[in-house]
Order: sequence, then C-alpha cells, then structure tokens
Amino acid sequence: MTIYNFDTPLQRRETNCAKWGHYAPDVLPLWVADMDFPVALPVREALHRQIDLSGLGYPDAMGVDDLPELRGLLVERMQRLYQWRIQPQDIVFTTGVVTAFHMASYAFVAPNQAVLVQPPVYPPIWHAAQTTGVKHQAAPLTRLADGSYVVDWEHFEAAITPETRMFLLCNPHNPVGRVFTRRELEKFAEICLRHNVLICSDEIHSDLVYTGHPHIPIASLAPEIAERTITLMAPSKTFNIAGLQCSFAIIPNPELRKQFQRGNKGIGGWVNTLGLVAAEAAYREGDDWLEQVLVYLESNRDFLAHYVAEKLPGIQMVKPEGTYLAWLDCRAFNLPSDPCSFFLENARIALNDGRTFGPGGEGFVRLNFACTRSTLEQALDQMQQALASTQIQAPSA
Ligand SMILES: Cc1ncc(COP(=O)(O)O)c(C=O)c1O
Repeated sequence: MTIYNFDTPLQRRETNCAKWGHYAPDVLPLWVADMDFPVALPVREALHRQIDLSGLGYPDAMGVDDLPELRGLLVERMQRLYQWRIQPQDIVFTTGVVTAFHMASYAFVAPNQAVLVQPPVYPPIWHAAQTTGVKHQAAPLTRLADGSYVVDWEHFEAAITPETRMFLLCNPHNPVGRVFTRRELEKFAEICLRHNVLICSDEIHSDLVYTGHPHIPIASLAPEIAERTITLMAPSKTFNIAGLQCSFAIIPNPELRKQFQRGNKGIGGWVNTLGLVAAEAAYREGDDWLEQVLVYLESNRDFLAHYVAEKLPGIQMVKPEGTYLAWLDCRAFNLPSDPCSFFLENARIALNDGRTFGPGGEGFVRLNFACTRSTLEQALDQMQQALASTQIQAPSA
C-alpha cells in the first residue's frame, strides 16, 4: 500500500490551475473546490501509460456495451457501498456533473415548467433553471440558531406547484455540508413521487463524507424511487481529477435514459479519453488513497472548527458532515465590506462569496479546507490578524 504525505505542498501555480492562478501571488487560495493534494499513484500511472501509447483519440464510449470494465467497477461499487443494485446499461457517461444536470433540465423540463432547488446552494445549481430557459423555484434550507441546516418540510412541499417538473437535489450539500439522512431522503422521495416530480440528484461529493454520516444515494432507497431519479456522480471531486471532465449518470428507467441523452442537444461532446482512463484506475485501485485523504480532511475539518471557535469568535461554523467545504457565517461582525472582499483585501485569503449561492448566502463565505495543514493554519492566522488589525471587535456572546 502506498502511504501518501498530504503535508507536502504541491507547486500548483505552475500547473495552469484556476485555484492558484486566479489571484495575485501573495494570496492564499481557499476557494474553488479542488484539493491541494497529489493524485493517487495508480491514477497517475494509468494516465502516463495512456499518453505513452498516444492513446488520445476518441474513446469507445458511446454505446451501452462500451467500457465494460468501468461499468463493471461502478456496478460493483454501488452494490458494495450502498447495497444498490444497478445494471451496466443504466450508466451514461457525461462530460461533467454540471453538464449533466443542465442536460437533465433540457431533457425533462419544458419552458413553462420549473426546476426546484434548495438555496443557499452551489451556484450552477442555483442558476440551472435560468441557464436552461425554464422556470425556477426555491425551497430554501432552514438555518437553526446553532448554525445547522434542516429542511422545513411544509415549506418544501408548499414550494411545489403543478409546474414543478424536477427537483435538483444536492447531496452531500454544497455549501452547507449536510449529508441527508435516510429519513430525510425518504421524505424528499415521498413528496416528489406524490407530486410527480422527477429527482435529479447531484451526488458529486458522495465519497467525501465523515464519521457518522454515511452517504445514501436517494435512488437506492427503493426501485420505484430509482425509476424517477437521475443520479449524478463522478470521480472528479473524490480523486481530485476535476480537470479531466469525466462523470456519469445512473438512470435505471430506460425511457428517462433515452430522453436524458437527447438533452445534450448535440453539444455535450465526447467524454474525455484521459478522464475515462483515470476513472477506471481510480475506482479499481484508488480506495487506499481515498481512505487516507478522508482521514486528513476530517482532521483538517476538526482543526478548522476548533480554530474558529477559539480564535475567531463571532464567526459561526458547524462542522460539515461531508464535502471539504466550510460555510462560515460572518454576519455578527460589522465588516466594512462583504466578508469575501474583506478577507481578500485585508488577509490576502481567497474564499467564495456567500452571495453567489443564492438567498441565505449574504454575510457568509465558503472556505475550502482541502489543503495542507500548514496552509490552512496560515490562512486562519491571516484572517484572525485582519480582524484584529482592523479593530473589528467580535460581538460579545
Ligand atoms: C455540487 C457540485 N456539483 C457539481 C460540481 C462540478 O461538477 P463538474 O466539474 O463535474 O461539472 C461541483 C464542484 O464543485 C459541485 O460542488
């Protein structure tokens, strides 16, 4: 077994990397959702092999009989992780999860119908209806006094109208970090089935969950739910290969599957050859890397929560149950600008602006803690100093 050292910094600025390239060199980037960690060795080796063979042509990936090894790995993985029995032909490879939920909206939702989402939520989900020219409906998550998020079921159901065609679920939820429980998922499914609403479930963060919070694909709950669900997953977040644009949809209902494929409208493109090679290597041989990265991430999460509680009083943070993203409530401070600009200008730390996640995001920032511990500590020290040097007092408890 390879032992990985996630404490060693990578030279990411030299790799045409959005996270490290976007801001000035003195800014520490804790924003866009990829990890500052080396990719699993078997994945790197598989990519090297494919390149050395000049295997960069079109992949044999469009038919249901293509990619039997990768399909087999995914069938086995769904069974092993979730006791979810799927068939190889249920899988449709896609060029990214964002592409895939847009395809779903194009395929299933007419312009006079609506997509329902739960803000604050990942910006492309928040904007999906607008992007695809259909109606938009929101059932915001409810934030409790302790900073945790729950679903207000009356509110959720009341948001559904005869126009609602598809619920775009984000589970695990970016940015609030919820991993929805079996009970919650059953309730989503029960309400959606009763109102004849399709479920498109973005589960890109499904492998990035922490102790006590197992991921459950909503479609795995029952065959009648799977019949009405498009499940979107990918190796990209899990194995830190987001630039390879490789993902997949699981659609057991053959009619929905056919319709979904038409949603690419001829512009969805081919799945990336290197992405497929990396996916196969990752799912075949990447689990020991994943186990190690999860230990590192969970300990970064706990370090961060402790730091915020001890040294950044006034910022409220609840430990995320999944994802490597923390959602920081900075509303108690009387900052001279929005918190994202404040920390960028005064602490030289790049975060994501909460406002881009829709209603409920104002006064918040999202912090990506998938970095070396020393980067995380340095960033937090700089944030603390910025608050201290601008003499912004933490509100008294
Ligand atoms: C919930 C969610 N969906 C999708 C994506 C991106 O998916 P892709 O890169 O496969 O388009 C992200 C990236 O952060 C995400 O958080």
